[in-house]
Amino acid sequence: MNSKLNIGIIGAGRIGKVHAETIAFRLPEAHPASITDINPEAAAAVAARCGIAHVAASSAQILDDPDIDAVLICSSTDTHAGLIVDAARAGKHIFCEKPIAHSLERIDQALEAVDKAGVKLQIGFNRRFDANFARVRAAVAGGEIGAPQLLHIISRDPAPPPASYVKVSGGMFLDMTIHDFDMARFLIGSEVEEIYTAAGVMVDPKIGAAGDVDTAVITLRFANGVIGTIDNSRKAVYGYDQRAEVLGSASSSATANCYPNQAVVSTAESVRRDLPLNFFMDRYTESFVNELRAFVDAVRLDKPTPVTGIDGRIPVVMALAARKSHDERRPVRLAEISSLAHA
Ligand SMILES: NC(=O)c1ccc[n+]([C@@H]2O[C@H](COP(=O)([O-])OP(=O)(O)OC[C@H]3O[C@@H](n4cnc5c(N)ncnc54)[C@H](O)[C@@H]3O)[C@@H](O)[C@H]2O)c1
Repeated sequence: MNSKLNIGIIGAGRIGKVHAETIAFRLPEAHPASITDINPEAAAAVAARCGIAHVAASSAQILDDPDIDAVLICSSTDTHAGLIVDAARAGKHIFCEKPIAHSLERIDQALEAVDKAGVKLQIGFNRRFDANFARVRAAVAGGEIGAPQLLHIISRDPAPPPASYVKVSGGMFLDMTIHDFDMARFLIGSEVEEIYTAAGVMVDPKIGAAGDVDTAVITLRFANGVIGTIDNSRKAVYGYDQRAEVLGSASSSATANCYPNQAVVSTAESVRRDLPLNFFMDRYTESFVNELRAFVDAVRLDKPTPVTGIDGRIPVVMALAARKSHDERRPVRLAEISSLAHA
């Protein structure tokens, strides 16, 4: 493909705006042709900011447009699976935000439609495209650490979401830990077979009242023998805490938090530095650009996408297993939830 990839954007909320800006200002091979949102003012505001010439009345109008090559699905999670089916039937290549859906049945319907249409699908697990995590993965994949043995992921938010969001989010495991489940598979390069969750409500009783948890340690047993932990909190008072370490037979590879600056202030009383970058918009800015660059390249050069539909499905199986383990207070094998391939 020599011409620019014409992209339609569905959903102009927080993440839709980030992706629209990337397509408009950072990726010369792509063109933001059209945008839509059920809130037309949101779509119009992003269109004006990013120079998008066309505000579509609906997602159907974008999917009917023969000039659109690919769509970015950035709307609320409950719309993703249906929009994937519609977009695949319309022959559009698809980038879809995580998670595909909360139910495996809906995910399987979406993946079946993608297979049938032969279009490309990439899921928005952006952290794989963060330079720090990518380097830890390269150290594991390239043998620098020898045989991997232990994995630790620390993933804590700076502040909990409102209880109203908690109710529609699917819960912490499907909404927040889902990124860590993807990161665990990505870093180790093997599938998790069994999960044990110890979780509770330590941050906000309203989250508990909504039926969710806000604090967890999740133990992972991988098929290749590696043992992992994910440490989650909805509130770390010092900000967004995003770290990982893989210990291997030859060395360990770790990545620490990112800061707005490297300055250290040393006084007679203490040695201080500023807090880490506060949340995902700041911490993962470049990863959002890199993931869309990879998607645009995959479509234009007819390559496989780096985060497939199955990569979108397996973390949902892991999240359902984590919740079951918490509810039943026992280790849960992923096979109890589903096979890892889609039906
Ligand atoms: N990868 C990441 O780090 C990351 C970060 C934030 C959000 N997300 C995901 O992105 C999705 C959106 O999250 P958000 O934070 O931007 O939410 P948001 O509420 O800010 O935006 C969602 C937008 O979608 C619109 N919308 C809903 N249904 C629609 C439809 N049928 N057609 C068109 N527009 C529709 C809403 O009006 C809203 O403007 C969620 O699935 C979320 O999990 C991913």
